[in-house]
Amino acid sequence: MRGVDFDPALIERLRRASRVLVLTGAGVSAESGIPTFRGDGGLWREFRAEDLATPEAFARDPHLVWTWYEERRALCRAAQPGPAHEAIARLEQGLPEFLLVTQNVDGLHRRAGSKRMLEIHGCLLEGRCTQTGRTFLLDDPPLDLPVRSPHADAPARPHVVWFGEAYDARLLEQALAFEADVCLAVGTSAAVGVPASLAARTPFLVEVNPDETLLSRHADACLRGPAGALLGPLADLWLA
Ligand code: OAD
Repeated sequence: MRGVDFDPALIERLRRASRVLVLTGAGVSAESGIPTFRGDGGLWREFRAEDLATPEAFARDPHLVWTWYEERRALCRAAQPGPAHEAIARLEQGLPEFLLVTQNVDGLHRRAGSKRMLEIHGCLLEGRCTQTGRTFLLDDPPLDLPVRSPHADAPARPHVVWFGEAYDARLLEQALAFEADVCLAVGTSAAVGVPASLAARTPFLVEVNPDETLLSRHADACLRGPAGALLGPLADLWLA
């Protein structure tokens, strides 16, 4: 979609931004073939979160939980970062004060080269020791399940935030301390309150999403369409 028409006033406003936050959700990886959580084909339509993504589910059946995460990890490893991930990595390189906060656990932002990034829901390429809290990269090929910690004689768990769990306070503090003046909210339904509030509190908010979301009413501009088609041309103009 080269030649997308953006409002010149919007581009001008973005160029004046001093601290840019990009918040991403599952929609940014949809074009890489990774299912979103809500909506048609969403993971939470097919699976019950309480069976797979809670501390109780893990205590009840760690093998089942690990099997589900290993299947998702295999899908994510086979996927490639798309133009949206690449455009966000380019924005990081081109803007002096930049922070990416992602809700995605698929590792695609890392693989696209993003560095100034907080993975606030964790990353399913990593496990975490249940005793020490230390994280480690999971091996390939797939492991013996359920995974044991390499750091202690203890089980390991997927390094993801589950329903009913608190966020990592250090990551949240960093996200809040960044004090962005412009936020791009890309591919998120904003159904999860903590990340949505990071976007909603920003003085100038741009939403990139084909559909209306809970954030839309807070947005100063809504770019309606797939992130993969919109973000590349937007980054070109912004950084020109
Ligand atoms: P959702 O599945 O709730 O929302 C995905 C959003 O992406 C929707 O608003 C879609 O309209 C939009 N979308 C779909 N295709 C798109 C495209 N090509 N370009 C841009 N946007 C597109 O996913 P999240 O908002 O990420 O938490 O969900 C938040 C959290 O809820 C997830 O991190 C996960 C889930 O429970 C945990 O697992 C901890």
